[in-house]
Amino acid sequence: MFTIAHLTDPHFGNRLEVADRNRRVVEAVAELAPDVVIVTGDVADHGTAEEYAEAREVIGMLPGPLLWCPGNHDVREAFSTAIFGAPATEPLDVVYDVGGFRFLLLDSLVPAQDGQRIDHGELSEASLAWLDAELTESSLPSFVCLHHPPAVMGIDWIDEIGLRDPERLEGIVAQHPQVLATLVGHFHTTAATTFAGRPLLVGGGVSSTVPLPGEGRPRIWNDAPPSFAVHLVTDDLRVITHWRSL
Ligand SMILES: [Fe+2]
Ligand SMILES: [Fe+2]
Repeated sequence: MFTIAHLTDPHFGNRLEVADRNRRVVEAVAELAPDVVIVTGDVADHGTAEEYAEAREVIGMLPGPLLWCPGNHDVREAFSTAIFGAPATEPLDVVYDVGGFRFLLLDSLVPAQDGQRIDHGELSEASLAWLDAELTESSLPSFVCLHHPPAVMGIDWIDEIGLRDPERLEGIVAQHPQVLATLVGHFHTTAATTFAGRPLLVGGGVSSTVPLPGEGRPRIWNDAPPSFAVHLVTDDLRVITHWRSL
């Protein structure tokens, strides 16, 4: 069975205990020895070089392959310098083939002026065309990965800052039956729905949890345990997800 560890929203720099929450998750993931680790964005809370250095130190200790995409809290140039070794100004869309599977990581970050942040997600025409071309070029079983969920999850305030115009992405995924699932972050909750007829899986939230409206918790539930997802893929390409809260 192929094992994917899916971490999301580590938010290094958000508050003191976040680094420790990340260490606990990394230790648990290291025990699992997955075939690949995916981090679906909000790596740094403010996008500073110091926060990325800490992320590299903590999450970067995993043997990998370790695949990252940025989120709304990330700053593209600093993220790309830390993760890829060079500053990028255009969206960072990257494809990796690992163990007979294809992982397509899309950059849904909307750049903002220094010190500001735009929270909803967008995919450029170029990113969508790139995805379509990569999925046309190979029939490997594939996972589409991005930070912003392209579907609502039943929490109004955060649903409003999901991916804009999700039907454009949906149209592409729908045309490529080898896409097994779409993996996302941003919503800080262990949740699943469907998208283009395939699973849409939120990886949880390392830094905090966003509760349902009726749960009587703070809007950002910092005391909830850090969570992450493990996606198992069977030989007949069934995707099984287990979430863990530590
Ligand atoms: Fe986040
Ligand atoms: Fe986010």
